Amino acid sequence: MAITIKSQREIELMRESAKILANVMETLEHSVHPGMTTKDIDDMGEKLIRKAGCIPSFKDYNGYPASICVSVNDEVVHGIPTKDRVLEEGDIVSLDAGAIYKGYHSDMARTVAVGEISEEARLLIERTRQSFFEGIKQACEGNHLYDISNAIAAYCEGFGYGVVRDLVGHGIGTHLHEDPQIPNYRMLRRGPKLSRGMTLAVEPMINVGTWEVEWLDDDWTVVTLDGSLSAHYENTILITDGEPEILTLTPSEIAARKGA
Ligand code: MF3
Ligand code: CO
Repeated sequence: MAITIKSQREIELMRESAKILANVMETLEHSVHPGMTTKDIDDMGEKLIRKAGCIPSFKDYNGYPASICVSVNDEVVHGIPTKDRVLEEGDIVSLDAGAIYKGYHSDMARTVAVGEISEEARLLIERTRQSFFEGIKQACEGNHLYDISNAIAAYCEGFGYGVVRDLVGHGIGTHLHEDPQIPNYRMLRRGPKLSRGMTLAVEPMINVGTWEVEWLDDDWTVVTLDGSLSAHYENTILITDGEPEILTLTPSEIAARKGA
């Protein structure tokens, strides 16, 4: 399948989908506290997505049983929310959510602190976030896809972090996962050329230790092989003739960028 170019009408729908999702994500981020279960987050997220007139895209996707992927500490992605997993002070929790609005998908992830966290955890979250921004500095028309990958990898490797290789970002639109795949690790080729109207989900998954991961027996939860912490930061973006437009920034992120 080729990389799709979205029309102006499709871009409007992607923007709306992303804006709704980002609002939900911000509410979830603010709700995270010690003593709540990962299922509490999923219940809240599903309700908010539906209340806003969207469909939670992860629910039943290839059999995934929830609306929000909730991954704690050494869990990289695709953690399954349960009422037995209680968040504790010092944990870090990655929230990954997807919404469909009038047939158009948005996809985003944030890693948040549960109360006070270690300096190691704080730095990992901050640098994982920054790696996304380093990557998308390359995301302009005329550049190539793997310029994004290489920028993310170079930034993270500078800290000795492990860049997850088994999972990658992706194109997004009328499907959650469209072409192309977007690695976060170094590529020798430059990959396809970027054109305005492409919509991409760029999502570095970064570990304090080794890049290697394994799957738990539930066949979903991905964990670091060495048990080290992992963080995730994902946005749906639009390629333009200038800087990319980040469609899933949260209201407080938008305010912070304006203030900066
Ligand atoms: N956000 C994930 C991604 O980027 C999707 C989660 S897979 C699901 O690909 F099964 F949980 F939906
Ligand atoms: Co994604």
